[in-house]
Amino acid sequence: MAEPLKVISKRWDVPDGHTLDGYLRTGGWVAGRAALDMDPDAILQMIKDSGLRGRGGAGFPMGVKWGFIPRDSDKPTYLVINADEGEPGTFKDREMMERDPHMLLESMVIGAWALKSNRGFIFIRGEYLWPGVRLEEAIAEAYANGYLGKDILGSGYDFDVTLHYAAGAYICGEETALLDALEGRRGQPRLRPPFPAVAGLYACPTALNNVETVCNLGFIVEHGVDWYRSMGTEKSSGPKLFSVSGEVVRPGNYEWPLGTTARQILEESAGGMLPGRRLKFWAPGGSSTPLLTADHVDTPMDFESISAAGSLLGTTAMCMFSDKTSVVDACLNWTRFYEHESCGKCTPCREGTFWMAQILERILDGRGRSADLDILEQICDQVLGRSFCALGDGATSPIFGALKYFRDEFEHLIEHGRLPDDIEGHAGPVGDNSGRLRPAASGRPA
Ligand SMILES: Cc1cc2nc3c(=O)[nH]c(=O)nc-3n(C[C@H](O)[C@H](O)[C@H](O)COP(=O)(O)O)c2cc1C
Ligand code: SF4
Repeated sequence: MAEPLKVISKRWDVPDGHTLDGYLRTGGWVAGRAALDMDPDAILQMIKDSGLRGRGGAGFPMGVKWGFIPRDSDKPTYLVINADEGEPGTFKDREMMERDPHMLLESMVIGAWALKSNRGFIFIRGEYLWPGVRLEEAIAEAYANGYLGKDILGSGYDFDVTLHYAAGAYICGEETALLDALEGRRGQPRLRPPFPAVAGLYACPTALNNVETVCNLGFIVEHGVDWYRSMGTEKSSGPKLFSVSGEVVRPGNYEWPLGTTARQILEESAGGMLPGRRLKFWAPGGSSTPLLTADHVDTPMDFESISAAGSLLGTTAMCMFSDKTSVVDACLNWTRFYEHESCGKCTPCREGTFWMAQILERILDGRGRSADLDILEQICDQVLGRSFCALGDGATSPIFGALKYFRDEFEHLIEHGRLPDDIEGHAGPVGDNSGRLRPAASGRPA
């Protein structure tokens, strides 16, 4: 049986863990000092050997990605941290930046040294004011004490960090839209290739990674590859933060090794489903990952096992829903989000998300037609794989899963114009990045 971990979250219970004093007292900068004495190529090799995969959603091997960054470019290399965290249900980066901002800064220095980069950016979700304040304080402390800026810790190495507040669009978490936004343009995805590794920020080589991904670097450097690989599975190594939200007793972020079953995380950390409620459906990695059911709750939470179960590990944001909740209403809630957040650049997503929301709305309003489910499926088919970026694909995930496992609920609504009697009504908790339940917004008839 897996055991809960305190690696990435090791300082979350330290009251002053967010200050430089608290950070240094609890082992901060041991890895950073060691890294600055190491050959950058040796650090890159350790990252490759550790098997670390991206924590921002796609799970791409970090060592491979950083291996694409040219080492002999005459342009500057940039390190950009994706702290936009807009995926519904995901709130792990927020807690990391709030409680342990220096971990991100030290990890950036380690990564930047390995990449021979002198300039880093943190692109933080605009609504994350409190984590932003904590980061601003940490950046100021780090500069004042020689951990950022010129000649870091007397090593002769210079590294500067800029904190950039995003303006509140989900699409700006997509890496190329993020780069456009950071350059001051409207955030829309770029055509690839070229990939950011070769021509990213200001057309220069750019490493772009999620907050949690980069925060693994210090642990790999300090404790070694074997220690790191002792957690998780062979292909999904290391510790992982799981954001559990929805109809559970204790929503929150919990750290476990990758490969821990969803049941263990749900029951031992989140206290199980609320009293009197049974698990009905759940998204394993945020709303863009296909829905699973109670039958899948023993699936190990690693990239391979969740994909074999028919979904994606995504951001490991487990959004849990009970038998009292309408899966159709949950789908409408998510689809409205995608419709609103679609950047409008490509037709399948711009038009498709609009029509998906229209059809779901009329089904829930009791005005559904017998052809609606086929039309809904056809629209999702035209969006999936035909959109310019992964937002469009993600928008189809809840609907495909709901139709696959709960078609009878849609059919009941169309036939009777109301939800089955055992469903209380609307899907309030969709995981709104707060980790807490929130009341349903609309007053549609049940
Ligand atoms: C619509 C959309 C939104 C995204 N939002 C985020 C985000 O908020 N944070 C994040 O780290 N990755 C996000 N991603 C994934 C990024 O494009 C990228 O894959 C990731 O930041 C790479 O970092 P990693 O390799 O460390 O996971 C998003 C992707 C899409 C398509
Ligand atoms: S899929 Fe949606 S978000 Fe992505 S480019 Fe097309 S319209 Fe924009």
